[in-house]
Amino acid sequence: MISAAVETHGERLNQQVTESALPDVTKAGRGTPPESHANPKRKKVLFVTSEISDLVKTGGLGDVSAALPRAMHPLHDVRVLIPGYPQVMNSDNPIHIVGELGGHAALPACKIGRMDLKDGLVIYVLICPELFQREGTPYGANNGRDWPDNHIRFARLGLAAADIAAGEGMVHWKPDLVHAHDWPAGLAPAYMHWRGLKTPTLFTVHNLAYQGVVSRACCPELAIPPHALQQEGMEFYGKLSFLKAGMAYSSHITTVSATYAKEITTAEFGCGLQGFLSSKAQQGLLSGIPNGIDESWDSATDPHLICPFSLNDWDGKAVNASHVRQLFKLQPSTGPLFAVVSRLVYQKGLDLTQGVAEFIVANGGQIAIIGRGEPEEEQAMRELALRFPGQIGVRIGFNETDARRIFAGSDFLLMPSRYEPCGLSQMYAQRFGSLPVARNTGGLADTIEDGVTGFLFNESTVASYEQALSRAFYVYSKPNLLNAMRCLSMTQPFNWCQAVEPYARLYEELVERATATTY
Ligand code: ADP
Ligand code: GLC
Repeated sequence: MISAAVETHGERLNQQVTESALPDVTKAGRGTPPESHANPKRKKVLFVTSEISDLVKTGGLGDVSAALPRAMHPLHDVRVLIPGYPQVMNSDNPIHIVGELGGHAALPACKIGRMDLKDGLVIYVLICPELFQREGTPYGANNGRDWPDNHIRFARLGLAAADIAAGEGMVHWKPDLVHAHDWPAGLAPAYMHWRGLKTPTLFTVHNLAYQGVVSRACCPELAIPPHALQQEGMEFYGKLSFLKAGMAYSSHITTVSATYAKEITTAEFGCGLQGFLSSKAQQGLLSGIPNGIDESWDSATDPHLICPFSLNDWDGKAVNASHVRQLFKLQPSTGPLFAVVSRLVYQKGLDLTQGVAEFIVANGGQIAIIGRGEPEEEQAMRELALRFPGQIGVRIGFNETDARRIFAGSDFLLMPSRYEPCGLSQMYAQRFGSLPVARNTGGLADTIEDGVTGFLFNESTVASYEQALSRAFYVYSKPNLLNAMRCLSMTQPFNWCQAVEPYARLYEELVERATATTY
């Protein structure tokens, strides 16, 4: 919420409230120890994203945007820029106006607010009610349909990042590097490049399939120069691609697992960009840095759980299973409980889960499904539950508490993704003793050890999936084996430490390289 004084006297405060007048929250709160500022190479990094799980989340990008800036904080001053959706503007955290940015072409003028989260993370909020003050998800209405002006909304996000990097709008904090994420932030590196800024940019691809492609007729309203319409620019089969812009104009590209970084250079996973990405890889400009999971994923202390439980406390885990069965109206059972916690979209292979449902139920298994997404996929899941009353339960919606309880209560997580850049759910499930049954692709291949911490299958087919499920049923029938696998999965070292070092090195290298070429 914006403080009343700012709302009433916004213009006056725009001139009076500057960054230096605000309390130095970086010295307060957990996660910001004083020695954290010891890094002599400490950089100022603007992290541009369309979601952050503290405020608004549709999937893993929200989790990463909340965790990575915090994990980086001991080494670098990472601040987040996010649009002012209602979920952001109406949160309990006060927002102070710190800047004002002019409009450009069809992109309206906006304000920049600063929100300090309780642990010290600084969020810059792009305040532009005509674009962002709408009920729904960051990308569309609650009926699952995208907003028709998303190109304007997210071009405004990219332009705001470029404006801040250029030192405009009285924000009084100029980043040394801009780190942009996925297509909604794709125009940030592009606008910076077209403006001739030397500030380096890092672009992270969380999902190559979502590209933000619009007609080239949008060039004038987005202030895209004609020379951008070329293969080395943001042209994509005669159209404009926000995602390609992010990749074409940034200093370096990362994606979120080592395997996906290789996969996207092939025709099967490259979404038409494999040639472009192969060339980037050959130049050393594409790398994979795996995501981690944050400390809240601890089954012994998670306040969301009906019954927190530790390693070997399988009775505790069973209490969570009973709760999930009640929640999903499943009959009492001694068979395995399978879970789906997922965006309901083609990527996630839910049609394959429909295909194996009969096999699971016939073998004494039950399935609890929570998800939200495309209307057709939602309907297919509802119909699945109707086919197997008392054995398959579905809740359409997004609920963090339920998701955590399902990971805790289930024996197995179903994740037959057609592709998976990293995937967080399979790591959350393992941490809570639920063994993933997953396709051998992307981050799933990198984070699940087949037959040790879960079960992998190679082909996107019901037959391949059922083979992995047969192995899961076998393990379930051998409690000692099941519990040994649970122990191994719960103790996997998934955390953000492994990502901090490569990101920190990249930040430092990119800034040093940009400085060297400037002088
Ligand atoms: P993606 O980002 O492709 O959706 P990830 O596995 O990386 O996949 O991240 C998904 C995140 O969203 C996880 O935090 C998962 O728990 C959460 N999630 C997905 N669907 C739901 C839901 N219906 N309710 C609550 N959380 C969900
Ligand atoms: C995307 C990907 C998912 C990844 C997440 C966070 O949504 O689909 O695999 O884990 O981003 O990087």
